[in-house]
Amino acid sequence: MLVIIKDSYDDLSRQTAAMVAERIRKKPDLVLGLATGVTPLGLYKELIRLYNEEGLSFARVTTFNLDEYIGLPRTHPQSYFHFMQENFFRHIDIEPRALHIPDGMAPDIDAQCEWYEQQIARHGGIDVQILGIGANGHIAFNEPGSSLGSRTRIKTLTDQTVEDNSRFFKTAEEVPKTAITMGIGTIMEAREVFLLARGTAKAKAVRAAIEGPITAMVPASIIQMHRKAYVLLDRDAASQLTHVFRG
Ligand code: PGA
Repeated sequence: MLVIIKDSYDDLSRQTAAMVAERIRKKPDLVLGLATGVTPLGLYKELIRLYNEEGLSFARVTTFNLDEYIGLPRTHPQSYFHFMQENFFRHIDIEPRALHIPDGMAPDIDAQCEWYEQQIARHGGIDVQILGIGANGHIAFNEPGSSLGSRTRIKTLTDQTVEDNSRFFKTAEEVPKTAITMGIGTIMEAREVFLLARGTAKAKAVRAAIEGPITAMVPASIIQMHRKAYVLLDRDAASQLTHVFRG
């Protein structure tokens, strides 16, 4: 696990985008796992800039998003499908059929989850998975207590996550209480994982994830077991780490 601490959120976004771009240039048909939330917004903005100004092409890239709310149509402004279109996909040259986001309106959610796993396998697995971290240590919608070997499935969100996400909805009642999420086992099969965090609100979770014991109560702590994990932090998110090399 390599922990990279940058002075600012902009630096963090640029660094992550440069790492993603390098991999796409090396392997134009990269399979890229993506995340929603506010943390990767700077990364998407910088990747769009690289597309516009530096000839980075996504034409052969395939993407798999981590999760989606159950019960929100793709057109809903808070669906993750909509988020990805608005913040990333519609600004780049990616093929619409190369995008994968679980369908939270699927009539058979279990079958949808199985289909999602099959699609990942059919594309040869995920090369690089982008991850955020929740204030409670979750990754994707794998809340504390999630099985560390879990696969794509339906999860009930914790009250804290519903509350955290309510800032995007008019009322907390409107926030969906269930989601389809890649499992922790699914995420761990990605060849590389990039976990991003910014801000003091994440500092405790970051410390628990990378300096604490590996435990299902802090799902992000599983990345200690990953063979190629990068943790990209701004100074605030890194502020509670004790083992920092300040050379
Ligand atoms: P955030 O969410 O990027 O909006 O902080 C991350 C997460 O909860 O996984």
